[in-house]
Amino acid sequence: MMKTFSNAITDLQLTRYPISSKDTLQAWDAADEYLIEFIAQSAKSWQNPIILNDQWGALSLTLHQKHPTVISDSFLSHQGIIHNAQVNQIASADVSVLTPLSELSESYDLVILKVPKNNSLLIEQLTRLYPYLSPNTTFVSGGMIKHLPPTLIETLEQFIGPTQASLAQKKARLFHTEVNTGSAIKKSALSSYKFTFLNQTLTAYGHANVFARQKLDIGTRLLLQHLPSLALEKAQHIVDLGCGNGVLGVCASIINTDASISFTDESFMAVDSAKRTWQKRFPNRQNVQFIVNDCLQGITTEADEILCNPPFHQQHTVGDQIAWRMFKQAKQKLVTGGALTVIGNRHLNYHMKLKRLFGNCTLIANDRKFVILRATKSL
Ligand SMILES: C[S@@+](CC[C@H](N)C(=O)[O-])C[C@H]1O[C@@H](n2cnc3c(N)ncnc32)[C@H](O)[C@@H]1O
Repeated sequence: MMKTFSNAITDLQLTRYPISSKDTLQAWDAADEYLIEFIAQSAKSWQNPIILNDQWGALSLTLHQKHPTVISDSFLSHQGIIHNAQVNQIASADVSVLTPLSELSESYDLVILKVPKNNSLLIEQLTRLYPYLSPNTTFVSGGMIKHLPPTLIETLEQFIGPTQASLAQKKARLFHTEVNTGSAIKKSALSSYKFTFLNQTLTAYGHANVFARQKLDIGTRLLLQHLPSLALEKAQHIVDLGCGNGVLGVCASIINTDASISFTDESFMAVDSAKRTWQKRFPNRQNVQFIVNDCLQGITTEADEILCNPPFHQQHTVGDQIAWRMFKQAKQKLVTGGALTVIGNRHLNYHMKLKRLFGNCTLIANDRKFVILRATKSL
C-alpha cells in the first residue's frame, strides 16, 4: 500500500513490493527515519555515498540527489526501489542498484548500512566494502533493536573499526564506526558441503545470504529421500522454485538427465550458488537456466514438475504470503497433468491451500515435523 514517508530531508510516496492492496505494512521503519535524521543534521557534505540493504528506497530515494550506490541481495527490493523511484519521478539513473556480488570500483565517503538479518551477509558486505573506504569515510549503521545481532558492535569493530552506539529512538539504534585502516580480515564467504544422493557424492555451494548454506536443511533432506518416487523421469521441464543453493534441482537432474531445468530465486546470491552447485555436477550440460525473479515470473516455458521448499519469511516479515503466491503461479505455469511438490512444516497447513487451489493434494510422506505434498494440475 502506498504511504507518504515524510522525513527530515524530503517527502516520498513509498510502497513495499510486489504491490498488494492487502499489504498494510509501511515501506520504511524508525531506523530509516533515524539514519536520515543523522544525515540531515550533519554539517558534512558527501560526494559518494553507498547504501547497503535499503529495502524499498526509503534511504536511497531520499538521498537520490547524491546519486548513491545501493546494494541489495533481493530482486524484490531492486524492483521496489525502481518502482518507487518512478512514482516519485526520480530518474532511475540517480540510484544505481547493485547486488552484494557486484564488484565495487570507487571509494565512498559515506556508508549507510541497514544492518541485515544474516550475520554472514553482514561480514561479507563489510569485508567487500572495506578496501573502498578511507579514514575520512562517515560510516553509520542502523536497525530496529529487536532485529540487531548481539555481536553487531564486535563485528563492526573487527571488520571496520571502533564503534559507538547511539541512544535508542523509537526502538531503533544507530552505530557510528570509525574507519580504522588495517583492521579488516579478508576471508572467502562462499561455503560448501558434501552430501549423498543415489550413491553419488555431491557438493552444494552457498554464498553468505543463502538458506542452509552450510548443511542440508532437514526438510530438503526429507524431500530428497522421496524424490526418486515422484516419477520425474517423464518430465520435459523441471523447475526448482526458490532454489537456494540448488540441491533439489541438481538431484532432479540426476534422476532425469534429459529434462531441461530452471533454477529460480529472488536472491541473487542464491541463484549464483545454485549455478555453482549445478556446474560442479554437470560441467558440460546446456539445458539449464538460472533466473533471478519473483516466484515463477521469469519462467517462460510451461513446466511438468515444480519442486518447492517455500520460504516462511521475507526479511523480518513472517507469513505464508510468498508460499501462497508461489502456489498460485505454479498452477499457471504447469502443463495439464503436471505437478507441484512442496515440502513444508506440518503446522503451516499447506495441504489446505493446495487442495483449495488445485482441487487435489496427495501426502507423499511425512515425519514429526514435515509433510511432502503433491498437487496435480487437472483440466
Ligand atoms: C526455505 S528456502 C529453500 C531453498 C532450497 N530450495 C532448499 O531446499 O534448500 C526458500 C527459498 O525461497 C527464496 N525466496 C523467497 N522469496 C522468494 C520469491 N518471492 N521468489 C522466489 N524465491 C523466493 C529464498 O531466497 C530461499 O532461497
